[in-house]
Amino acid sequence: MDRIIIRGGQRLVGSVRISGAKNAALTLLPCALLTDGMLTLSNLPRLADVDSFGHLLNGLGVSTTVAGARTGDGNDRAMTLHAGEIASTVAPYDIVRRMRASILVLGPLLARAGEATVSLPGGCAIGNRPIDLHLKALEALGAEIELAAGYLKAKAPSGGLKGGHVSFPIVSVGATENVLMAAVLANGETVIDNAAREPEIADLCRCLVAMGAEIEGIGSSRLVVKGKTSLHGADYRVMPDRIEAGSYACAAGITGGDLLLEGACADDMVAILDGLTAAGLTVTHESEGIRVTAEGRPRGLSLSTAPFPAFPTDMQAQFMAMLALGEGTSTLTETIFENRYMHVPELARMGADIDVQGRTAIVRGVDKLVGAPVMATDLRASMSLVLAGLAAEGQTEVLRVYHLDRGYERLEEKLSAVGADIERDSDG
Ligand code: EPU
Repeated sequence: MDRIIIRGGQRLVGSVRISGAKNAALTLLPCALLTDGMLTLSNLPRLADVDSFGHLLNGLGVSTTVAGARTGDGNDRAMTLHAGEIASTVAPYDIVRRMRASILVLGPLLARAGEATVSLPGGCAIGNRPIDLHLKALEALGAEIELAAGYLKAKAPSGGLKGGHVSFPIVSVGATENVLMAAVLANGETVIDNAAREPEIADLCRCLVAMGAEIEGIGSSRLVVKGKTSLHGADYRVMPDRIEAGSYACAAGITGGDLLLEGACADDMVAILDGLTAAGLTVTHESEGIRVTAEGRPRGLSLSTAPFPAFPTDMQAQFMAMLALGEGTSTLTETIFENRYMHVPELARMGADIDVQGRTAIVRGVDKLVGAPVMATDLRASMSLVLAGLAAEGQTEVLRVYHLDRGYERLEEKLSAVGADIERDSDG
């Protein structure tokens, strides 16, 4: 199994090109199911999850053609997806268990084919992650859903899905995405209240509009969708990855570095940039992107994760690694997922001083971290270990690299280009 080997202590300086957003790509790809036209997505990141989603769609009858080679350190990768006909409406356990985002085919399949059979995703390393909100929202559009042998079997009424009123009791990114993709082909108007406002939802809305959908309130917590009888193909460019950008910002912070995050979008990252500033980093906006400069150690701070526009749960682990080497004590509270502190014992093995009390982690900054073999159970936790390794004395080996490959495009390449001593060992 691959491992990443990092010899820490290098100050990172230079520019990092930010890739297309994983979590936007994973909701834009299933849009292909909504039309018999061609959907071309450009700026698509090269990630294991994107490939897995492509395979899932292939199994449903969607043809996928990848075009565009990598140029320099840029990425002009595009995928053209064509669902002339839906050949299957089954998302099998074998794919869904590896990638929870597979649940996002449920809404589009119901809307276009009138039925869907999707494996239940099961548990996950960061929390329980139920899908009840996805199901209730689709039921509000007339879907009938039953559970049999670990699979959800969903059917639209004979005339197709009907517009309805969905009011989410808590904010869910995935459930908002699923019901949006269903509502665009439903009969009549759908109102979605307490919709997630994450930038990836706005990206999804813009792509659907480019395909002919009618959506009001984009970017707000009330979305109004006027259903259409059909959508057409479109060319759409995936937004930049705000979490990748934030992760590299923390790499600048933890190494006392100076990184230009090329192509990053500041409007999508306000809470992240505020957090960096509170930690004493300098954030400047340049024409090519966002520059993050660190002088000395980061300062301790208090943060609480919450739905957008607040501080994202997907940045909690990376900030924790940075603050583990901070001056003073930090308090991080995780309000989205109940089990998202799996990186804490691994960071502790490198010398971090962190106490978890319920949903709150108290991080007492230490003067140094020491390299060690470490492993994590999820993507962002793995990135926090890479960050710790960049600043630690000696060598860090990060195991279970497949987590990183799900969400960070060409990680070792991007980090080495700005001065990190990092390599992948494929024989480990
Ligand atoms: N929830 C329910 N019922 C549901 C759905 C969600 O109780 O039916 C709960 C969840 O258990 C959680 C909260 O609602 O406590 C929010 O979950 P949400 O549905 O918003 O998360 P998601 O759609 O499953 C996406 C991202 C995650 C990111 C979260 C929160 C994708 C593919 N995944 O997950 O990204 O952490 O939103 O912003 O978009 C990552 O990239 O590392 C990652 C985990």
